[in-house]
Amino acid sequence: MSTKPAEQTHFETRLKQSAVETEALLMQLLSSQELEDEIARPENLTAAMRHGTLNGGKRLRPFLVVESAALFGGDHETALRIGAALECLHCYSLIHDDLPAMDDDDLRRGQPTVHKAFDEAVAILAGDSLLTYAFDIISARETELAADRKVQLISALARASGVGGMAGGQALDLAAEKKAPDEAGIRTLQAMKTGALLRFACEAGPVIAGASDDDRKRLRLFGEKIGLAFQLADDLLDVTSDAATLGKAAGKDAGRGKGTLVGLHGIDWAEKTLNALTVEAIDLLAPYGAKAEILQQAARFVANRQS
Ligand code: IPE
Ligand code: IPE
Ligand code: MG
Ligand code: MG
Ligand code: MG
Repeated sequence: MSTKPAEQTHFETRLKQSAVETEALLMQLLSSQELEDEIARPENLTAAMRHGTLNGGKRLRPFLVVESAALFGGDHETALRIGAALECLHCYSLIHDDLPAMDDDDLRRGQPTVHKAFDEAVAILAGDSLLTYAFDIISARETELAADRKVQLISALARASGVGGMAGGQALDLAAEKKAPDEAGIRTLQAMKTGALLRFACEAGPVIAGASDDDRKRLRLFGEKIGLAFQLADDLLDVTSDAATLGKAAGKDAGRGKGTLVGLHGIDWAEKTLNALTVEAIDLLAPYGAKAEILQQAARFVANRQS
Protein backbone atom coordinates (compact mmCIF):
# COMPACT_ATOMS: atom_id res chain seq x y z
CA MET A 1 0.00 0.00 0.00
CA SER A 2 1.41 3.42 -0.87
CA THR A 3 1.56 5.98 1.90
CA LYS A 4 1.02 9.60 1.06
CA PRO A 5 2.68 12.55 2.76
CA ALA A 6 0.32 14.31 5.19
CA GLU A 7 0.53 17.47 3.10
CA GLN A 8 -0.89 15.71 0.06
CA THR A 9 -3.75 14.19 2.05
CA HIS A 10 -4.58 17.62 3.45
CA PHE A 11 -4.50 19.05 -0.06
CA GLU A 12 -6.83 16.38 -1.38
CA THR A 13 -9.31 17.13 1.42
CA ARG A 14 -9.26 20.81 0.45
CA LEU A 15 -9.71 19.94 -3.22
CA LYS A 16 -12.68 17.69 -2.35
CA GLN A 17 -14.33 20.43 -0.27
CA SER A 18 -13.93 22.88 -3.11
CA ALA A 19 -15.30 20.33 -5.61
CA VAL A 20 -18.44 19.94 -3.47
CA GLU A 21 -19.04 23.69 -3.61
CA THR A 22 -18.43 23.82 -7.36
CA GLU A 23 -20.75 20.87 -7.98
CA ALA A 24 -23.58 22.43 -5.96
CA LEU A 25 -23.30 25.53 -8.12
CA LEU A 26 -23.11 23.52 -11.36
CA MET A 27 -26.21 21.58 -10.32
CA GLN A 28 -28.07 24.84 -9.89
CA LEU A 29 -26.74 26.30 -13.16
CA LEU A 30 -27.69 23.18 -15.11
CA SER A 31 -31.24 22.87 -13.80
CA SER A 32 -34.11 22.34 -16.23
CA GLN A 33 -35.52 25.77 -15.49
CA GLU A 34 -34.86 28.20 -18.31
CA LEU A 35 -33.27 31.58 -17.55
CA GLU A 36 -34.60 35.00 -18.45
CA ASP A 37 -34.57 35.34 -22.27
CA GLU A 38 -34.00 31.64 -22.81
CA ILE A 39 -37.05 30.20 -24.56
CA ALA A 40 -36.94 26.62 -23.26
CA ARG A 41 -34.36 24.05 -22.12
CA PRO A 42 -34.88 20.76 -24.00
CA GLU A 43 -34.94 18.00 -21.37
CA ASN A 44 -32.71 15.60 -23.32
CA LEU A 45 -30.05 18.21 -24.01
CA THR A 46 -30.04 19.48 -20.43
CA ALA A 47 -29.73 15.88 -19.22
CA ALA A 48 -26.75 15.31 -21.55
CA MET A 49 -25.08 18.49 -20.28
CA ARG A 50 -25.54 17.27 -16.73
CA HIS A 51 -24.23 13.83 -17.64
CA GLY A 52 -21.06 15.39 -19.06
CA THR A 53 -20.58 17.78 -16.17
CA LEU A 54 -21.95 16.34 -12.92
CA ASN A 55 -20.13 13.04 -13.25
CA GLY A 56 -17.20 13.35 -10.90
CA GLY A 57 -14.03 14.93 -12.15
CA LYS A 58 -11.35 16.42 -9.97
CA ARG A 59 -12.58 20.01 -10.44
CA LEU A 60 -8.97 21.13 -10.43
CA ARG A 61 -9.55 24.12 -12.70
CA PRO A 62 -12.26 25.69 -10.48
CA PHE A 63 -10.03 25.01 -7.48
CA LEU A 64 -7.20 26.96 -9.12
CA VAL A 65 -9.53 29.86 -9.88
CA VAL A 66 -10.78 29.95 -6.28
CA GLU A 67 -7.33 29.68 -4.72
CA SER A 68 -5.62 32.09 -7.08
CA ALA A 69 -8.37 34.62 -6.31
CA ALA A 70 -8.04 33.99 -2.56
CA LEU A 71 -4.30 34.68 -2.76
CA PHE A 72 -5.08 38.29 -3.69
CA GLY A 73 -8.22 38.72 -1.58
CA GLY A 74 -10.74 38.17 -4.39
CA ASP A 75 -14.40 37.49 -3.58
CA HIS A 76 -15.06 33.78 -2.99
CA GLU A 77 -18.57 33.59 -4.49
CA THR A 78 -17.43 35.38 -7.63
CA ALA A 79 -14.42 33.08 -7.99
CA LEU A 80 -16.70 30.06 -7.61
CA ARG A 81 -18.87 31.28 -10.48
CA ILE A 82 -15.86 31.91 -12.73
CA GLY A 83 -14.57 28.46 -11.76
CA ALA A 84 -17.93 26.89 -12.64
CA ALA A 85 -17.89 28.67 -16.01
CA LEU A 86 -14.42 27.30 -16.71
CA GLU A 87 -15.51 23.81 -15.66
CA CYS A 88 -18.44 23.98 -18.14
CA LEU A 89 -15.97 24.83 -20.87
CA HIS A 90 -13.58 22.06 -19.77
CA CYS A 91 -16.43 19.50 -19.73
CA TYR A 92 -17.42 20.58 -23.25
CA SER A 93 -13.83 19.93 -24.34
CA LEU A 94 -13.98 16.43 -22.84
CA ILE A 95 -17.35 15.59 -24.44
CA HIS A 96 -16.04 16.56 -27.87
CA ASP A 97 -12.60 14.99 -27.23
CA ASP A 98 -14.32 11.62 -26.68
CA LEU A 99 -16.42 11.73 -29.87
CA PRO A 100 -15.82 9.03 -32.51
CA ALA A 101 -14.36 11.65 -34.87
CA MET A 102 -11.81 12.60 -32.22
CA ASP A 103 -10.41 10.12 -29.64
CA ASP A 104 -13.37 7.74 -29.91
CA ASP A 105 -13.67 6.87 -26.22
CA ASP A 106 -16.50 5.05 -24.45
CA LEU A 107 -15.53 5.77 -20.85
CA ARG A 108 -15.12 9.08 -19.04
CA ARG A 109 -14.94 9.59 -15.29
CA GLY A 110 -15.94 5.96 -14.87
CA GLN A 111 -19.15 6.33 -16.86
CA PRO A 112 -20.25 5.99 -20.48
CA THR A 113 -19.22 9.04 -22.50
CA VAL A 114 -22.01 11.43 -23.47
CA HIS A 115 -22.31 10.13 -27.05
CA LYS A 116 -22.66 6.60 -25.64
CA ALA A 117 -25.22 7.50 -22.99
CA PHE A 118 -27.15 9.70 -25.47
CA ASP A 119 -26.09 9.96 -29.12
CA GLU A 120 -23.49 11.80 -31.16
CA ALA A 121 -25.70 14.69 -32.20
CA VAL A 122 -26.79 15.32 -28.62
CA ALA A 123 -23.14 15.10 -27.45
CA ILE A 124 -22.10 17.71 -30.02
CA LEU A 125 -24.93 20.00 -28.96
CA ALA A 126 -24.30 19.46 -25.25
CA GLY A 127 -20.71 20.56 -25.90
CA ASP A 128 -21.84 23.60 -27.89
CA SER A 129 -24.27 24.56 -25.13
CA LEU A 130 -21.68 24.20 -22.35
CA LEU A 131 -19.16 26.27 -24.29
CA THR A 132 -21.66 29.08 -24.77
CA TYR A 133 -22.89 28.79 -21.21
CA ALA A 134 -19.39 29.46 -19.86
CA PHE A 135 -19.51 32.97 -21.29
CA ASP A 136 -23.12 33.41 -20.14
CA ILE A 137 -22.11 32.62 -16.56
CA ILE A 138 -19.20 35.08 -16.53
CA SER A 139 -21.22 37.91 -18.04
CA ALA A 140 -24.44 37.28 -16.05
CA ARG A 141 -25.78 39.80 -13.57
CA GLU A 142 -25.50 37.18 -10.81
CA THR A 143 -21.71 37.26 -11.16
CA GLU A 144 -20.79 40.19 -8.98
CA LEU A 145 -17.76 41.72 -10.61
CA ALA A 146 -16.93 45.06 -12.23
CA ALA A 147 -17.76 45.04 -15.96
CA ASP A 148 -14.16 45.70 -17.06
CA ARG A 149 -12.91 42.69 -15.11
CA LYS A 150 -15.66 40.53 -16.64
CA VAL A 151 -14.56 41.62 -20.11
CA GLN A 152 -10.93 40.78 -19.27
CA LEU A 153 -12.01 37.30 -18.17
CA ILE A 154 -14.23 36.76 -21.22
CA SER A 155 -11.46 37.86 -23.52
CA ALA A 156 -8.81 35.70 -21.80
CA LEU A 157 -11.10 32.65 -21.78
CA ALA A 158 -11.99 33.12 -25.45
CA ARG A 159 -8.31 33.27 -26.38
CA ALA A 160 -7.53 30.24 -24.20
CA SER A 161 -10.29 28.08 -25.65
CA GLY A 162 -10.53 29.00 -29.34
CA VAL A 163 -8.49 28.59 -32.49
CA GLY A 164 -5.28 29.78 -30.82
CA GLY A 165 -5.90 27.80 -27.64
CA MET A 166 -7.68 24.57 -26.69
CA ALA A 167 -9.62 23.96 -29.93
CA GLY A 168 -6.57 24.77 -32.05
CA GLY A 169 -4.50 22.42 -29.89
CA GLN A 170 -7.04 19.65 -30.40
CA ALA A 171 -6.72 20.17 -34.18
CA LEU A 172 -2.92 19.88 -33.92
CA ASP A 173 -3.31 16.80 -31.69
CA LEU A 174 -5.41 15.06 -34.35
CA ALA A 175 -3.05 16.12 -37.15
CA ALA A 176 -0.17 14.62 -35.13
CA GLU A 177 -1.79 11.19 -35.46
CA LYS A 178 -1.01 11.36 -39.18
CA LYS A 179 2.32 13.17 -39.13
CA ALA A 180 4.43 12.99 -35.97
CA PRO A 181 5.49 16.45 -34.75
CA ASP A 182 8.94 17.21 -33.36
CA GLU A 183 9.49 18.14 -29.72
CA ALA A 184 8.70 21.83 -30.26
CA GLY A 185 5.52 20.84 -32.10
CA ILE A 186 4.41 18.61 -29.24
CA ARG A 187 5.09 21.33 -26.68
CA THR A 188 3.06 23.81 -28.70
CA LEU A 189 0.09 21.48 -29.13
CA GLN A 190 0.10 20.58 -25.44
CA ALA A 191 0.38 24.21 -24.32
CA MET A 192 -2.68 24.84 -26.46
CA LYS A 193 -4.95 21.84 -25.90
CA THR A 194 -4.38 21.58 -22.15
CA GLY A 195 -2.10 24.35 -20.93
CA ALA A 196 -4.22 27.26 -22.07
CA LEU A 197 -7.23 26.45 -19.84
CA LEU A 198 -5.01 25.78 -16.83
CA ARG A 199 -3.16 29.02 -17.44
CA PHE A 200 -6.51 30.80 -17.58
CA ALA A 201 -7.51 29.16 -14.27
CA CYS A 202 -4.45 30.60 -12.53
CA GLU A 203 -4.63 33.99 -14.21
CA ALA A 204 -8.33 34.41 -13.45
CA GLY A 205 -7.69 34.84 -9.72
CA PRO A 206 -5.61 38.02 -9.97
CA VAL A 207 -8.07 39.42 -12.53
CA ILE A 208 -11.03 38.78 -10.22
CA ALA A 209 -9.16 40.37 -7.32
CA GLY A 210 -7.89 43.33 -9.35
CA ALA A 211 -4.28 42.44 -8.48
CA SER A 212 -1.30 44.10 -10.17
CA ASP A 213 -0.02 43.27 -13.66
CA ASP A 214 3.06 41.71 -12.09
CA ASP A 215 0.92 39.38 -10.01
CA ARG A 216 -1.13 38.46 -13.06
CA LYS A 217 2.04 37.69 -15.03
CA ARG A 218 3.46 35.57 -12.23
CA LEU A 219 0.27 33.51 -11.90
CA ARG A 220 0.10 33.16 -15.65
CA LEU A 221 3.62 31.71 -15.69
CA PHE A 222 2.71 29.40 -12.83
CA GLY A 223 -0.31 28.26 -14.90
CA GLU A 224 1.90 27.59 -17.92
CA LYS A 225 4.23 25.39 -15.87
CA ILE A 226 1.48 23.34 -14.29
CA GLY A 227 -0.32 23.19 -17.65
CA LEU A 228 2.64 21.47 -19.26
CA ALA A 229 3.08 19.26 -16.19
CA PHE A 230 -0.61 18.36 -16.29
CA GLN A 231 -0.53 16.94 -19.80
CA LEU A 232 2.81 15.25 -19.16
CA ALA A 233 1.25 13.49 -16.17
CA ASP A 234 -1.84 12.63 -18.24
CA ASP A 235 0.33 11.07 -20.94
CA LEU A 236 2.39 9.24 -18.32
CA LEU A 237 -0.75 7.84 -16.69
CA ASP A 238 -1.97 6.69 -20.11
CA VAL A 239 1.13 4.45 -20.21
CA THR A 240 1.47 3.44 -16.55
CA SER A 241 -2.10 3.22 -15.22
CA ASP A 242 -5.32 1.40 -16.07
CA ALA A 243 -8.91 2.25 -16.92
CA ALA A 244 -10.25 1.21 -13.50
CA THR A 245 -7.98 3.74 -11.76
CA LEU A 246 -8.31 6.50 -14.35
CA GLY A 247 -12.04 6.19 -15.09
CA LYS A 248 -11.12 6.52 -18.77
CA ALA A 249 -9.30 4.31 -21.27
CA ALA A 250 -5.58 3.77 -20.73
CA GLY A 251 -2.83 2.65 -23.09
CA LYS A 252 -4.35 4.39 -26.09
CA ASP A 253 -1.98 7.21 -26.99
CA ALA A 254 0.78 5.06 -28.51
CA GLY A 255 -1.73 3.01 -30.52
CA ARG A 256 -3.31 6.11 -32.00
CA GLY A 257 0.05 7.69 -32.70
CA LYS A 258 -0.56 10.65 -30.38
CA GLY A 259 2.27 13.15 -30.23
CA THR A 260 3.40 12.97 -26.61
CA LEU A 261 6.66 13.77 -24.85
CA VAL A 262 6.39 10.43 -23.05
CA GLY A 263 6.36 8.69 -26.43
CA LEU A 264 9.35 10.74 -27.56
CA HIS A 265 11.55 10.59 -24.45
CA GLY A 266 10.22 7.74 -22.32
CA ILE A 267 8.94 7.34 -18.76
CA ASP A 268 12.12 8.17 -16.82
CA TRP A 269 12.60 11.44 -18.66
CA ALA A 270 8.93 12.32 -18.12
CA GLU A 271 9.17 11.69 -14.38
CA LYS A 272 12.30 13.81 -14.06
CA THR A 273 10.80 16.60 -16.12
CA LEU A 274 7.64 16.52 -14.03
CA ASN A 275 9.71 16.98 -10.88
CA ALA A 276 11.66 19.84 -12.43
CA LEU A 277 8.48 21.60 -13.59
CA THR A 278 6.97 21.22 -10.13
CA VAL A 279 10.01 22.84 -8.50
CA GLU A 280 9.93 25.70 -11.01
CA ALA A 281 6.21 26.27 -10.41
CA ILE A 282 6.64 26.23 -6.64
CA ASP A 283 9.56 28.67 -6.80
CA LEU A 284 7.51 31.12 -8.83
CA LEU A 285 5.13 31.55 -5.89
CA ALA A 286 7.85 31.88 -3.23
CA PRO A 287 7.44 35.70 -3.05
CA TYR A 288 3.92 35.22 -1.62
CA GLY A 289 5.15 33.15 1.35
CA ALA A 290 2.83 30.87 3.29
CA LYS A 291 -0.30 32.33 1.64
CA ALA A 292 0.62 30.53 -1.57
CA GLU A 293 1.22 27.12 0.02
CA ILE A 294 -2.05 25.67 -1.19
CA LEU A 295 -1.25 26.55 -4.80
CA GLN A 296 2.23 25.11 -4.39
CA GLN A 297 0.63 21.90 -3.15
CA ALA A 298 -1.61 22.00 -6.21
CA ALA A 299 1.51 21.97 -8.38
CA ARG A 300 2.71 18.87 -6.56
CA PHE A 301 -0.69 17.25 -6.95
CA VAL A 302 -0.69 17.87 -10.71
CA ALA A 303 2.57 15.95 -11.04
CA ASN A 304 1.85 13.14 -8.57
CA ARG A 305 -1.85 12.48 -9.11
CA GLN A 306 -3.00 8.94 -9.77
CA SER A 307 -6.01 9.81 -11.93
C1 IPE B 1 -8.51 15.55 -18.60
O1 IPE B 1 -8.58 16.56 -17.65
C2 IPE B 1 -8.21 16.12 -19.92
C3 IPE B 1 -6.89 16.70 -20.06
C4 IPE B 1 -6.70 17.96 -20.25
C5 IPE B 1 -5.72 15.85 -20.01
P1 IPE B 1 -8.74 16.21 -16.11
O2 IPE B 1 -7.74 15.15 -15.72
O3 IPE B 1 -8.73 17.47 -15.33
O4 IPE B 1 -10.18 15.55 -16.07
P2 IPE B 1 -11.30 15.59 -14.93
O5 IPE B 1 -11.99 16.90 -15.08
O6 IPE B 1 -10.64 15.44 -13.59
O7 IPE B 1 -12.17 14.42 -15.28
C1 IPE C 1 -7.35 16.14 -23.86
O1 IPE C 1 -6.20 15.42 -24.05
C2 IPE C 1 -7.31 17.58 -24.01
C3 IPE C 1 -8.68 18.15 -24.05
C4 IPE C 1 -9.77 17.51 -23.74
C5 IPE C 1 -8.78 19.49 -24.49
P1 IPE C 1 -6.46 13.87 -23.99
O2 IPE C 1 -7.24 13.39 -25.16
O3 IPE C 1 -5.18 13.19 -23.68
O4 IPE C 1 -7.40 13.77 -22.68
P2 IPE C 1 -8.02 12.43 -22.11
O5 IPE C 1 -6.85 11.51 -21.83
O6 IPE C 1 -8.95 11.89 -23.14
O7 IPE C 1 -8.69 12.87 -20.85
MG1 MG D 1 -7.54 14.02 -27.12
MG1 MG E 1 -8.85 11.95 -25.16
MG1 MG F 1 -4.91 11.56 -22.30
